[in-house]
Amino acid sequence: MTASTRTRNTKLLAWVEEIALKCKPERIHWCDGSQEEYDRLCNEMVEAGTFIRLNEAKRRNSFLCRSDPGDVARVEDSTYICSKTREEAGPTNNWMDPAQMKAKLDGLFEGCMRGRTLYVVPFSMGPLGSDIAHIGVQLSDSPYVAVNMRLMTRMGQKVLDVLGDGDFVPCLHSVGAPLEAGQADVAWPCNAESKYIVHFPEEHSIVSYGSGYGGNALLGKKCFALRIASSMGREQGWLAEHMLILGVESPTGEKTYVGAAFPSACGKTNFAMLVPPAEFEGWTVRTIGDDIAWIKPQPDGTLRAINPEAGFFGVAPGTSVKSNPNALKTLDHNVIFTNVALTDDGDVWWEGLTDTPPEHLIDWQGKDWTPGSGRLAAHPNSRFTAPAAQCPSIDPAWEDPAGVPISAFIFGGRLSKTFPLVFEAYNWREGVYWAATMGSEATAAAVGQAAIRRDPFAMLPFCGYNMADYWNHWLSMESKVENLPRIYRVNWFRKDENGKFVWPGFGDNMRVLKWIVDRVRGRATEVAESPFGYSPRYQDLNWSGLSFGQEKFSKIMDIDRKEAEAEARDQEELFNRFGSRLPAEIEQQRLALLKRLEQSPDVWRIG
Ligand code: GTP
Ligand code: SPV
Ligand code: MN
Repeated sequence: MTASTRTRNTKLLAWVEEIALKCKPERIHWCDGSQEEYDRLCNEMVEAGTFIRLNEAKRRNSFLCRSDPGDVARVEDSTYICSKTREEAGPTNNWMDPAQMKAKLDGLFEGCMRGRTLYVVPFSMGPLGSDIAHIGVQLSDSPYVAVNMRLMTRMGQKVLDVLGDGDFVPCLHSVGAPLEAGQADVAWPCNAESKYIVHFPEEHSIVSYGSGYGGNALLGKKCFALRIASSMGREQGWLAEHMLILGVESPTGEKTYVGAAFPSACGKTNFAMLVPPAEFEGWTVRTIGDDIAWIKPQPDGTLRAINPEAGFFGVAPGTSVKSNPNALKTLDHNVIFTNVALTDDGDVWWEGLTDTPPEHLIDWQGKDWTPGSGRLAAHPNSRFTAPAAQCPSIDPAWEDPAGVPISAFIFGGRLSKTFPLVFEAYNWREGVYWAATMGSEATAAAVGQAAIRRDPFAMLPFCGYNMADYWNHWLSMESKVENLPRIYRVNWFRKDENGKFVWPGFGDNMRVLKWIVDRVRGRATEVAESPFGYSPRYQDLNWSGLSFGQEKFSKIMDIDRKEAEAEARDQEELFNRFGSRLPAEIEQQRLALLKRLEQSPDVWRIG
C-alpha cells in the first residue's frame, strides 16, 4: 500500500519523505499493526538470526532475542535534553545547543538506513481516541522496534485513522548500522561508537541513534511518555511520572488506587502485580500499569491517572512463581524475551526463576552455560515484552479513558539503611520534599556512578526539564487540586547487621499497602509521629500469617539520629546544584527536619 492511501496527514507524509531522502533506506514499510504483519516480521527476524522461536508447546508464539553485548540498557550518558538554554534542561540532564545537536545528528543520519527497511510506526500512548492520550509516529530501521512497539503501545493503521490531519510527536530512530551493497547483516545491529538519545522539548520531538535496546529505542516509553510528556505536563498542568498504578480492593468492594514511584529495577512490576498473603482474605490488588502514569487534575478536585502503555517491558531476573505469579502467567505466550537464557527444550530461564538452575543452558550471549561456569546465564537487565491485557491481575478499568482516581502517592528507593519501612509525610510540601530527596542504590542504566545516587521522584533520568522547576510544578498542585493524595515513603530494602533484608517484601508488602489504604480512608487514625512523618505502630499492621515480632519491627522502623542527620546534610549537595531555581519550600522542609532531629533521641523508636 502506498503512503497516501494510509494517511492524508501532510506533516507526516512530508516528514517520511524527508527522512527517506536523508537516510536512504532500501524500502519503506507503513506498519498496519495487524497480527499478520507482526507474525511476518517475527518470522523474518527468525530467518535473519535475530529471533529464536521458542518451543510452541511451552511458550506459544514467543521469541528470544540476544542483543549485542554492548547494547544492553539505557545509556544515560548519551541522553540529552536539547532545550533552548542549558538552564531549561537543568543540572541533572545532559544538554547541547539544539542547532548544534541537529547539525551533529544530520551528519549521523545521512545514509544511515542504507540496505534496511524504514518502518513507519504510528502509535498512541493511552487508549486510542481518549482525551488524555497522545499520538506519536516512530520512524525506525529496526524490525525489533516495530514488533515491540506493537506490544507496548496501541500501534498501526487505527492510529493514523484517529490522527487524521492532527498533530503528532515525531520520533526518529536508527540503529546506526547502514549496510553497504552486498554486506551481510548481524543479528543485532547497533553503533558501537555513537549513541545519542535526544529530546527537543520545545518542539516535542525525539531523535535516537545507535542503540536498539529498550528505553533507547522504543521511543514511546521513556522518551515520549516521560521526558517529552513531563514537558507537556508542565505546559498544560498535568504530571507524567515513573510510576506504577494499582488498585486495592477490600472485602467490602471498596476500591482505592495508588501511584508508586520506585527507581528502575526497584520493584514496580512486582508491586503492581502484588498477590496479598493468604491471610488477607477478600483483599485483591489490581494492576493498571507497571512503569508510567499520566496524571491529570480533574474538575471535581481529584487527580486521575492512566497508564499510557499497552504492555510490560519488565526485568526478567528475580521473577518467579513465588515473587510474582501474575507476571509469570502474563508471560505464558505472545512474549519477546531479550537477553535471557535458552533451555535445552527451547524455553527460557533466568536467575531466580527456579531455585535450582537447569544443568545446561545457552546463556544470553549464545554460549554454553552450566551452573558451575561462574557467569550469569541471563543479563541482569534482561527483559520481557508482553501485552498488559494478558496479566491476570489487570484492572477492569485499565483502559478507561477517564483514568482512575489516585488516593496516595508512594515513593521508595533501594536503601540498605537510614530509611524505615514506611512513613506518611506530614503534609503535601513535606511529601514533595521526601520524593525530591529520594535515593537508591545503582541500577543497570547508571554505569560508573556512586553506589547510592539521588533519584528525585525516580525521575532523575526521565525529567524533560529543570528538576527544580519540576519540584515547583509538584508544589503548585497544592493550590490546583482540592483532594490531594497523601504522600508516603517506603523502603523494602533495609538490611540487618548480616547484610540480609529485614523485610520479606513482595506479597508481604500488602501489610504496608493496607495501612496506607486504611490511612487514606480515615481508618488508621492513631499513629506515632517520628522525625520523618506519621508512622504505624506495631499493632497497626496486620501480621497474621507472618512471624515478625516487635523486635524485628524495631529493626525496620527505628530512626538513627546520626544517620538521619547525615542524610539531611547530604541532601544539601543535591539542592545546591539548582542555585536560585530551588523552590524555597523544599529547603525549608530540610531545615525543619534537621530541627526535629535535634530534639530526637539517639535512636527514635515507636513507643
Ligand atoms: P523498571 O522496569 O526498570 O522501571 O523497574 P521496576 O521497578 O519495574 O523493576 P522490577 O519490578 O522488575 O524490580 C526488579 C527487582 O526488584 C528484582 O531484583 C526483585 O527481586 C526486586 N524486588 C521487587 N520487589 C521486592 C521486594 O519487595 N523486596 C525485595 N527485597 N526485592 C524486591
Ligand atoms: C527503566 O530503566 O526504568 C525501564 C527500562 O523501565 S527501559 O525501558 O529500558 O528504560
Ligand atoms: Mn522504568
